[in-house]
Amino acid sequence: MTCPCKSCECEGGWPSAPEPPKRRTFLFKLGTGLMGVGAALAAVPILGTLLGGATKRAETKWVDLGDLSQFPAGQTRLTSFINPITSPTDGITAKTACWVRCVKAGEFQVFAINCAHLGCPVRWFAQSKLFLCPCHGGVYYEDGSRASGPPPRGLFEYPWKLEGGRLMIDAGLLPGLQEPGFAGEGAAS
Ligand code: FES
Repeated sequence: MTCPCKSCECEGGWPSAPEPPKRRTFLFKLGTGLMGVGAALAAVPILGTLLGGATKRAETKWVDLGDLSQFPAGQTRLTSFINPITSPTDGITAKTACWVRCVKAGEFQVFAINCAHLGCPVRWFAQSKLFLCPCHGGVYYEDGSRASGPPPRGLFEYPWKLEGGRLMIDAGLLPGLQEPGFAGEGAAS
């Protein structure tokens, strides 16, 4: 049967009859299944991040910062170390730094060099006994607690321990804002 309008281009005649219900049901199930597969694939990186974070918490990588004589009592000194979690392509960026404060003989605080605001390296000013951040003016007291400016908290601290006359820090995990209470055996609470 040809189309009665005679003006359209549907040379094949009337539109074909509706698809049988079975085919439609099959296509619906196929579409639903493909959407499910897509959703599962999209969830993989999210789950990886969540589970990865949980397993990273268990990592402990003690790094030797050096002999205790390098850190005199009452002083805060900059020192560097190689990040224990690196890849072969990291190059010089694997080298990082931290501030070591020797409160008194055998008692330390080891601060991450990165500001708790947006991560700029903070500097220690011994005369004023303050850490200053050059980026947005964040200021921290000598014990790492926040003094003023945009940082939402004090400097992050590495857990530390003494071993054979040497200062060691657990550099396997840099504490972050997601772990506000993170502190190791030797870190201040
Ligand atoms: S990064 Fe230090 S105050 Fe913003």
